[in-house]
Amino acid sequence: MKVFQIGAAGGVGRRLTPLLTARGDLVTGMHRGQPAQGETVRAAGGTPVVGDLIADSVEDLAGKMRGHDAVVFSAGAHGTGQDKTTLIDGRGLQKAADAAALAGAARFVLVSVFPEALRDGTRSEGFEHYIKVKKTADVYLTRTDLDWLIVRPGTLLDTPGTGRVTAGPAVEYGDVHRDDVAAFLDAALHAPALSRVIVELTSGDTPVADAVTRLAAA
Ligand SMILES: NC(=O)c1ccc[n+]([C@@H]2O[C@H](COP(=O)([O-])OP(=O)(O)OC[C@H]3O[C@@H](n4cnc5c(N)ncnc54)[C@H](OP(=O)(O)O)[C@@H]3O)[C@@H](O)[C@H]2O)c1
Repeated sequence: MKVFQIGAAGGVGRRLTPLLTARGDLVTGMHRGQPAQGETVRAAGGTPVVGDLIADSVEDLAGKMRGHDAVVFSAGAHGTGQDKTTLIDGRGLQKAADAAALAGAARFVLVSVFPEALRDGTRSEGFEHYIKVKKTADVYLTRTDLDWLIVRPGTLLDTPGTGRVTAGPAVEYGDVHRDDVAAFLDAALHAPALSRVIVELTSGDTPVADAVTRLAAA
């Protein structure tokens, strides 16, 4: 499979690329042009391409995606402000989905968020905005004709993964290791039955491969 990653140099993205290439996928990793980001993509096994969800048009993005079978979107503004959240996590996802349709990259996997994330902590206007934008992005993707899959991980951890998760259409909110999110994305991307569904994902007891097999069989 030829996979186009948006957010390839990010915390989840750079963990996903080596898993994809290890199974024989060819990965193009989009980054915003800093040499270090390009090097991160290359070191992970991908071919870097420069792109920007804000600056690029739908046609620009489609041109970069053409020839790929699938898009994995794990980009995000990462707390850099509400405007950026709107433009990257919100409008950026819409542009990427429209571009994928235009380019014929039918499979589209989006890394989203639990709508109830961090609801027991102190709320901030910026975080509420982020949650709202992410949900609206989910809604947008579900209304496309793409072969979409939305994965909503819990709070992301950088510590080494366990290879075990809890995954389902609705699971209790919790933490999850970026390693395990990447492993889940890798397996789920290649499970055709996981199409046009939303999966919530936290750390748990089920080996990633079993979790994907069970969901695909359901
Ligand atoms: N943090 C959490 O606890 C949490 C929980 C649930 C879900 N999520 C979601 O999980 C996803 C992945 O998280 P992560 O930790 O991998 O994020 P991350 O490390 O912050 O990576 C974000 C990626 O987005 C890219 N990006 C930012 N602005 C862009 C733009 N204008 N155009 C193109 N790419 C752009 C960055 O590209 P560059 O490499 O070019 O900088 C970077 O690769 C995000 O969508 C996040 O909202 C996070």
